Amino acid sequence: MIAYTSTSTVTLAEARTRYTSGRGYLAACTLGLPTIETIAAMRADTEAWAGGQACASRYGEVVERVRVGYADLVNVTPHSVAIGSQTSVMAGLVAASIPDGAEVVLPRGDFSSMVFPFLAQAHRGVTVRQVDLADLATSLTANTWLVAFSLVQSATGTLADSDAIRAAARATGTFTLCDTTQATGWMPVDASLFDATICHSYKWLGAPRGVGFFTVAETFAAQLHPINAGWYAGDDLWASCYGPAMALASDARRFDVSPAWPAWVGAEPAIDLFRRLDLAEVATHNVALGDALCDGLDLPRLGQAIISWPDAGGRDLARLTAAGITASGRAGRARVAFHLWNDRDDVDAVLDALRRG
Ligand SMILES: Cc1ncc(COP(=O)(O)O)c(C=O)c1O
Repeated sequence: MIAYTSTSTVTLAEARTRYTSGRGYLAACTLGLPTIETIAAMRADTEAWAGGQACASRYGEVVERVRVGYADLVNVTPHSVAIGSQTSVMAGLVAASIPDGAEVVLPRGDFSSMVFPFLAQAHRGVTVRQVDLADLATSLTANTWLVAFSLVQSATGTLADSDAIRAAARATGTFTLCDTTQATGWMPVDASLFDATICHSYKWLGAPRGVGFFTVAETFAAQLHPINAGWYAGDDLWASCYGPAMALASDARRFDVSPAWPAWVGAEPAIDLFRRLDLAEVATHNVALGDALCDGLDLPRLGQAIISWPDAGGRDLARLTAAGITASGRAGRARVAFHLWNDRDDVDAVLDALRRG
């Protein structure tokens, strides 16, 4: 999608050696895999915790390093990155800040954590118009306050035409919120192109669940109410543990929620690996596998890392599972995902399993 100048210091071949499993694992779109470094960091942390050596301020230092690493990964400054733990909560922050009676436009069939937070604002007269993904850009009007969408659709792997959506949003004065959960980690993502982005990093980035990021441009941040503020949103964390006064951070940290500490320990090597990889190369690798599967299934080549096809009764998913392949079923479709640990043998294994019947 976006041509980046590579600053990679880890090659794809090197990165592939950092996984202890992955053969037949076609489920990064559900739950990614940890590297040796993430496993080691989490084991060491558990030991330290058990020994009474875990330390709140050291966890805080880990979080700040991960914030800086993530900012670098998606081309924004650390000051515009807030931390979170669930997509729906981060989307809920934006949803709660929509003016009464305003309109939001979403793609039909997007992941519910990007949909329900907006539907939940109906009591204030916020209207949600859901349209086909392909019509998203042309559906925006001067009355649309926000367009919210996933860069890559969870159920089908379809890529949104983010250039067209952003151009339409600029023309209509609409804010843009993009969920990159199914994109960041396998393709270059530039979060600075959107007013805000959300990413839960437990899929393609291989972090533990519970490590999420919210990036926000300053102009859009000025529109948002820090509804989830707690001690972690304070300007000075350790002076913010008790009220009655609230002095929030002036940058995106005012939207932070307190971190699930051990998860961030596992996230540090995960984010660092993907920050140092050439993600255009990872995208080429993953898409080549996806296209090879499309060829084998007589589907048009999709140029995607996630491939899904109709499987209403779940027969194909059962065949894959019986062959020892980890796949998933979503929205009446069988779904497989190719990531850097996969290769052509995984494609062949899927085709063999489906042919065996
Ligand atoms: C596009 C997208 N966003 C977010 C999530 C996860 O949502 P949450 O962080 O609310 O669990 C998923 C999970 O499949 C997803 O596909």
